[in-house]
Amino acid sequence: MTMTKTTDKPLHHQRMLVGISGGIAAYKGAELVRLLKQAGAEVRVVMTDAAKAFITPMTLQALSGHPVHDSLWDLQAEAAMGHIELAKWADHVIVAPATADILAKFAHGLADDLLSTLILATTASIWVAPAMNQQMWQAQATQANVMLLKQRGVHVIEPAEGEQACGDVGPGRLPEPAAIVAALTQRKPTTLFNGRHVVITAGPTQEALDPVRFITNHSSGKMGYALASAAQAMGARVTLISGPTALCAPAGVHCIRVDTAEAMLAACLQAMPCHVFIAAAAVADYRPAHKGTQKLPKQGQSWSLDLVPNPDILASICRLPQKPYCVGFAAQTEDLLEKAREKLNNKGADVIIANLVGPNLGFQVDENQVTLVKAHEVEALPMMSKIKLASVILEKIAKDAT
Ligand code: PMT
Repeated sequence: MTMTKTTDKPLHHQRMLVGISGGIAAYKGAELVRLLKQAGAEVRVVMTDAAKAFITPMTLQALSGHPVHDSLWDLQAEAAMGHIELAKWADHVIVAPATADILAKFAHGLADDLLSTLILATTASIWVAPAMNQQMWQAQATQANVMLLKQRGVHVIEPAEGEQACGDVGPGRLPEPAAIVAALTQRKPTTLFNGRHVVITAGPTQEALDPVRFITNHSSGKMGYALASAAQAMGARVTLISGPTALCAPAGVHCIRVDTAEAMLAACLQAMPCHVFIAAAAVADYRPAHKGTQKLPKQGQSWSLDLVPNPDILASICRLPQKPYCVGFAAQTEDLLEKAREKLNNKGADVIIANLVGPNLGFQVDENQVTLVKAHEVEALPMMSKIKLASVILEKIAKDAT
């Protein structure tokens, strides 16, 4: 079991009221509640009737550890913790997803259900993470409502861009729950990287063998995306070059999606110049020498693959005449520091972040423990959430990199 110190819990003792309104992204509310609890927050959930069409109160009750509030007219719930008490209890209210309808209610002071009533009755800080069809988001009425809310001090977590459930492409997707938690925990944005261009690689690469098979690894992209989100919050202009992941690009970050190591290198070179380059991607070292144009047939008892080396992206960026400050990772299963030091020298990076990986370690999980290795300095950091770690790493490198 991993013990996490309370100092690693950025929302320790914070009372978070999570409001979920009725959109397809309501299912992400479950992960949001889980991450808020992991960040140390006390969580209570309020759902609108429409939200219950997308996710059950039972799921959110199990995750938050408290009954879900969903009605102004429930005498039992009012007897336990009435709506005014609930509004007073909260330090922060986060509504995610916030539909066009609920934003309109908030903007115009309607109070015809529990969530909209709570918003009027609370003195807590209010955060909304809008999510809706891209046309609805861009509609003048919605934009005017959002502007009104911002003018009144409501924090708006901008929606991410991408493919939507309805098939449209554009702004309106709910940011990943991890990005919402990052926004909540980084309430006081710093200017450490003000105006600096930071290029970050994230996720795995996929090296195709034929149209249906590829070589890849376990990287989820969480570490790289957390770095992108934290750098953006610190004032950087961020280009995130991502291998295939299930994550949404953090709001305000320019995301370029690629699949292979060669495509990732091309995108990185295209993104230059930059002040800081962070290689968090798990790039395949080799790719199949030949890529079948059709699905390759089964080949008897054994099948040998011919592999050729991929370009080393980090080393290529370190060799540029206008070399940025270069940060690499070393994902190792043994001899961690020795191999990190080798990579520091061989690739020409300024820092290598040594990252022990294995089952439930490093890859895919929400927490990570790393050691920063520089030419004359080694610093081990404690286990913490990748969201927190991203900020700590950026704060550590800011001195040398900016
Ligand atoms: O994505 P997550 O699930 O959150 O997991 C995070 C992580 C474990 C992937 C991340 O923290 C990490 O350690 N990333 C580096 C993984 C890796 O490929 O390490 P490596 O030791 O093989 O490579 C060393 C460095 O060279 C890395 O910075 C890598 O991005 C870079 N590299 C490697 C090969 C290559 N052809 N080009 C590169 O740029």
